[in-house]
Amino acid sequence: VNQPMAIDETEQSITPHAAPPSVMVIFGAAGDLTKRKLIPALYNLRQSQLLPDNFAVIGVARAEMNDQEFRRRLSDEMREFATDDVDPQIWNWLEERLFYLSGDFNDEQTYPRLQELLTRIDKERDTQGNYLFYLATAPDYFASIVRRLGAAGLTREEEDKGWRHVVIEKPFGSDLESAKKLNADIKEVLDERQIYRIDHYLGKETVQNIMVFRFGNGIFEPIWNRRYIDCVQITAAEKVGVEQRGGYYEKAGALRDMVPNHLLQLVTLTAMEPPISFDADAVRDEQTKILHAIQHPSPEEAAKRAVRGQYDAGEIDGQPVPAYRSEPNVAPDSKVETFVAIKLLIDNWRWADVPFYLRTGKRLADRDTEIAIRFKHAPFSLFRKTPIDRLTTNRLVLHIQPDEGVSLRFGAKIPGPVLSIGAVDMDFDYEDYFGDTPSTGYERLLYDCMMGDATLFQRADQVEAAWAVVAPIQKIWSELPPSSFPNYKAGSWGPPEADELLKCDEREWEKTHNVADKTKTSKRDQDGSG
Ligand code: BG6
Repeated sequence: VNQPMAIDETEQSITPHAAPPSVMVIFGAAGDLTKRKLIPALYNLRQSQLLPDNFAVIGVARAEMNDQEFRRRLSDEMREFATDDVDPQIWNWLEERLFYLSGDFNDEQTYPRLQELLTRIDKERDTQGNYLFYLATAPDYFASIVRRLGAAGLTREEEDKGWRHVVIEKPFGSDLESAKKLNADIKEVLDERQIYRIDHYLGKETVQNIMVFRFGNGIFEPIWNRRYIDCVQITAAEKVGVEQRGGYYEKAGALRDMVPNHLLQLVTLTAMEPPISFDADAVRDEQTKILHAIQHPSPEEAAKRAVRGQYDAGEIDGQPVPAYRSEPNVAPDSKVETFVAIKLLIDNWRWADVPFYLRTGKRLADRDTEIAIRFKHAPFSLFRKTPIDRLTTNRLVLHIQPDEGVSLRFGAKIPGPVLSIGAVDMDFDYEDYFGDTPSTGYERLLYDCMMGDATLFQRADQVEAAWAVVAPIQKIWSELPPSSFPNYKAGSWGPPEADELLKCDEREWEKTHNVADKTKTSKRDQDGSG
């Protein structure tokens, strides 16, 4: 199965159209996201012929700079952050479409100046009044930027005068109340269909593939339920620590940073019913139903079903690394969690009694994001009078990153005169089949936003339902301070309580398995004995 296979191009390829003319206005253009993701993503879109000639970018930030300086700066940064060698022709094309406006986001005067610049660019470049406002700022500015854009008349969509879309980065609120407030504030100015709440996980090919895998194949859906599935385990493990983001992380912590957004996206895509179409609302309706079906545990249950951890000093790849409490901008007695493991139960007919275990953390033993579906055992009766004492657990793993792929584990007879079973893995590796496409993960999201397709963006009720899922945990954790932080070593798989969480249910975490490591494909893992 590791042989690259020809894909029938006639069936597969649909050439998308270039996006309509537009101006993308980036608030927070001097920040990390712009140089690392947004500009390289625009470059890649142009390379794929998905950006039209009538296109421009306006960067807005406080720093004093003119267009030339802004262009020069991004040119230098592009060399560092491009996903592939930079083609000068494509870069020149984009560079001459970059403009800069220096201004404070909270200053009323910034907005009429922005309007002036937009009108000028519209005239010069025929961008047809289509504006994409991208809020890549600190979350405190989201509501006020939207309000001021509205006051300046920049969000108003008049007939035939172009569309106005607003992309809002995460975090969208810090709990249910603040998310509701933010939704209410921005909806005073914008229509829901103008709002694009981004979750960059949905830009990942492997995440988008979950729906294709489940609903584009006939063989998985019949067994995708409580009758055949024992449990689902979702891991988003990182080797990195908090890096330079201590200030933000001290307010967020692992639960807020990863669960209501990225991990619950993976849960909903794995658990949802087939939508009636790929329309944005049809897909988001099904995702939201799952969020509503997740049990809200009592405080005592919430305390049992959620484990938190904080990393101590340790080793990553043989190098010593400091404890969380010694990272820059972190309090020396910080009680903020850098690891979380949670058990969720979905109360519906497909999933009743099938636990979904989630874990995520910084400074873990490996970088790996995956969804492991663990199936129930086959009846043992046939093997009772053989040397076999247990059967292989079938598991299907959707490898989200870094080694994108899918693998299926099953039992196979180990050749030889004595009956014995080994666990083997059948692997599909994206790169083998489709090659390596340079991508920042933002291309599809930006393109969809220009095309007016909100399927991969979160709707207001979806965001609120996700915060409601974590609310009981936030509440109990705010009442009960953690007893012993730090409680896991950097380079481990988190605190022992995370293993206990599954042990109580007579289960254990699936070992992460790397599809790119070909030596493992044929390796027999003697998990059934003989
Ligand atoms: C971000 C979090 O949203 O996602 C980070 O704020 C985290 O803390 C990152 O490291 C993980 O994203 P990815 O794409 O690297 O898995």
